[in-house]
Amino acid sequence: MKLGTPLSPNALKVMLLGSGELGKEVIIALQRLGVEVIAVDRYANAPGHQVAHRAHVIDMTDATALRALVEQERPHLIVPEIEAIATDELAKIEQDGLATVIPTARATQLTMNREGIRRLASEELGLKTSGYAFVSSLEDLKQAAQDIGLPVIVKPVMSSSGKGQSEIKTPDECQTAWNAAMSGGRVEGTRIIVEEKVNFDYEITLLTVRSKNAQGDIETSFCPPIGHIQKSGDYVESWQPQPMSEKALEKAQHIAEQITSNLAGCGLFGVELFVKGDEVWFSEVSPRPHDTGMVTMITQRQNEFELHARAILGLPVSTELISPGASAVIYGGLDEKAIAFENVNKALAIANTDIRLFGKPESYTRRRMGVALAHGQSVEEARQTAKQAAQTVKPVSTQS
Ligand SMILES: Nc1ncnc2c1ncn2[C@@H]1O[C@H](COP(=O)(O)OP(=O)(O)O)[C@@H](O)[C@H]1O
Ligand SMILES: [Mg+2]
Repeated sequence: MKLGTPLSPNALKVMLLGSGELGKEVIIALQRLGVEVIAVDRYANAPGHQVAHRAHVIDMTDATALRALVEQERPHLIVPEIEAIATDELAKIEQDGLATVIPTARATQLTMNREGIRRLASEELGLKTSGYAFVSSLEDLKQAAQDIGLPVIVKPVMSSSGKGQSEIKTPDECQTAWNAAMSGGRVEGTRIIVEEKVNFDYEITLLTVRSKNAQGDIETSFCPPIGHIQKSGDYVESWQPQPMSEKALEKAQHIAEQITSNLAGCGLFGVELFVKGDEVWFSEVSPRPHDTGMVTMITQRQNEFELHARAILGLPVSTELISPGASAVIYGGLDEKAIAFENVNKALAIANTDIRLFGKPESYTRRRMGVALAHGQSVEEARQTAKQAAQTVKPVSTQS
């Protein structure tokens, strides 16, 4: 793959489908390598739109609109940043030789539906997962909850960020969980996964990179494990490295190698795993940078976005860690457009910190608007610092 000159006939063109805070950083990494970038999202002035050569607003679940835009822009690579895309159309685009889908169209199809990826991991690859069942009615949900054993976790098969997800602790909670799943999924009348609740010691994201070495062979490399805390479906804090037993790390890497080599292609993957002692469960995988991996912007020589950019361009990578570090989310705290941030000066005056503000045009109370980063002698120290910096930044109204 030749790197050309952006905005000229020999430009290497990459189209991002989804241009939030993660896409924005991938775009910046691509821009640094002289790639021409086209950013697509469902709303105007998305974070990635603001740093790309061109920006488009379309409904990415609309196959016709997606096809038309790809034919208009003729990107060499299509890089999905979100799950909610017309992935069958991506498969056709790939088949027709119109563009290469990162990492593969099949990977985007399998991971947009919990059923696809869970059956692949457990039933085809034999990876250890929580016990599970797929159901389409309240009756079957009740039966599955009983068979698996309470507590169970219920999720619509097509959903993200905890939408429609809930825990059933007692049989009488089945109805509420069913209703929540029905209204929280991306499509109506959704199927539901019922999962055994794993009583893990901690959970990790194992960032796994499939990239080409100098000989052109695909290699798999692993970043040091990232620990994180999830609250109501979104991550609030992450840190790296998460200490693990040698056995657990070995198992985690083996699982990650198996699932990512099956999904194939080149790029970075976020493999989500649960760990208890030396035992490791596969949970899910993103075939793209992971939100908990934002910590790598302060911990690694090449952060997850640079790793993704390099890997998809066929360039070599390094997953070297520079320092332990942590990230803490900065929430909007307000339901308003065009908010402002005070005390960024005070947050950055705290030693070893950095801040990213995503530039989202509209804030919601629980919307992720930025992230505080910190490095330190230890993960504990870095976590304290990152949280302090995040709390110091104050979102304020600009309406008088
Ligand atoms: N089977 C499970 N056992 C224990 N905790 C779970 C289970 N499934 C999900 N969780 C918790 O909920 C979080 C979100 O679930 P996940 O399946 O990753 O959904 P999403 O696609 O919204 O990220 C996980 O990171 C974990 O903390
Ligand atoms: Mg997840």
